[in-house]
Amino acid sequence: MPETAASATTSPLSDRVTVMQESATIAMAKKCRELIAQGLDVINLSFGEPDFQTPQYIKDAAKQALDDGFTFYTPVAGIPELRQAICDKFKRDNQLDFQPNQIVVSTGAKQALANAVLSLVNPGDEVIVFSPYWVSYEEMVKLAEGVAVPLVGTLENEYKVTAAQLEAAITERTKLVMYSSPCNPTGAVFSREELGAIAEVLARHPQVYALADEIYEYINFVGEHVSLAQFAEVRDRVITVNGFSKGYAMTGWRLGYLAARPDIAYACEKMQSQITSGTSSIMQRAGLAALRGGRASADEMVAAYRRRRDLVLDIVKDIPGFKTPTPSGAFYIFPEVSAYFGRTAPDGRTIGNAMDLALYLLNDALVSAVSGDAFGAPNCMRFSTAASDEKLAEAFRRVKVSLAKLS
Ligand SMILES: Cc1ncc(COP(=O)(O)O)c(C=O)c1O
Repeated sequence: MPETAASATTSPLSDRVTVMQESATIAMAKKCRELIAQGLDVINLSFGEPDFQTPQYIKDAAKQALDDGFTFYTPVAGIPELRQAICDKFKRDNQLDFQPNQIVVSTGAKQALANAVLSLVNPGDEVIVFSPYWVSYEEMVKLAEGVAVPLVGTLENEYKVTAAQLEAAITERTKLVMYSSPCNPTGAVFSREELGAIAEVLARHPQVYALADEIYEYINFVGEHVSLAQFAEVRDRVITVNGFSKGYAMTGWRLGYLAARPDIAYACEKMQSQITSGTSSIMQRAGLAALRGGRASADEMVAAYRRRRDLVLDIVKDIPGFKTPTPSGAFYIFPEVSAYFGRTAPDGRTIGNAMDLALYLLNDALVSAVSGDAFGAPNCMRFSTAASDEKLAEAFRRVKVSLAKLS
């Protein structure tokens, strides 16, 4: 909430940070850790994090970089070999031709997204955010003093925004469109046809740019990953973001990148040069090894994610009131849970919304999940499926029992 005039005079904090929300996923994980510290057997399904170890060949490359004394500042946009390897990856996986001067390596895809938003959005510019959306999009837009305009997909369409919806939402103030596919939180994946129709709309509005977040590219159960930049009519206006956190199980390493038109890439590099400089030299060597190793390690993890998705869907189909589209990618389920709003818990408390339900499940089932508010979907909840089969089976068994206690 914005500060009141009275408190603004006593607080040293900027309006910028005061209006910013703490990441809901991080806040829930904090609560969850508190309960674990009290000795409770909490199953944490609130994090967007693979439970796999980073593949050994990538760890070895990081050790080698240290042994080589590769410990100095790097160029801001990344070491040349890595930028080239990213171009090679785009060519191999996405049939996209980029030159190294179009690539900016960052401290996670999160920084790549922030660089792009801060480099493109002026105060008052409208940014259409396909909703449900990843928690940080809206806050990044606020930081840039833009106006986030959530555009909500329907449950019937697996929450995917349609080209017609986009056409109707674009105004002369629209500067940017942001989305993820595969989507966090819904797991929806845009098909070639759907993205092609979106590209056609964008082609008619030359002032509008698009930020395509493809961080879950490899975690895709339908097969084809389509990049918006593959559509020639909009290629120059698409900023493609990707990274290592999800596909290579490298969340803690903090390595991501974007590809864009040279002037936009240069702007992002300039932004980064004044905030963090080039990301860690050691991590860049690790990223280089990851890309050179191809996607075999990711494919093994994807097989496990698919099995877990099926296992979880099989349990939740018997949970009354959960309306859960089948995710085509990523590692979440995102049920619509509003059937439980207005019900009463055994302690007499009323479940008014998804946040109440998340807190009830945390306390009663000892399962931590995130309320959909943070993703622009207040009737939903997000459960991660990046946990062992045993933990998932136990977690959803407990959820089912706790929900049955609501009257
Ligand atoms: C959709 C989406 N984009 C970007 C990120 C950030 O990824 P990174 O860890 O590379 O900063 C995440 C992480 O949860 C995400 O889910």
